[in-house]
Amino acid sequence: MFVCICKAVTEEEVQEHLGDGADTTDAIGARCGAGWGCGTCVERLNELLCAHAVGRHAAA
Ligand code: FES
Repeated sequence: MFVCICKAVTEEEVQEHLGDGADTTDAIGARCGAGWGCGTCVERLNELLCAHAVGRHAAA
């Protein structure tokens, strides 16, 4: 499923960037451009960032 329509970035692609250490929406954008178009997807990117951070905290 696409998270960012402007840059045709999927949720799976964002998850890969999170796993590779992207820890801000700008860091995700630097890797794939998500969030750097209209900005509509930034809220969803933040949700994915928070879920990833919670998952890492729970695993620690
Ligand atoms: S949908 Fe991601 S920047 Fe427009």
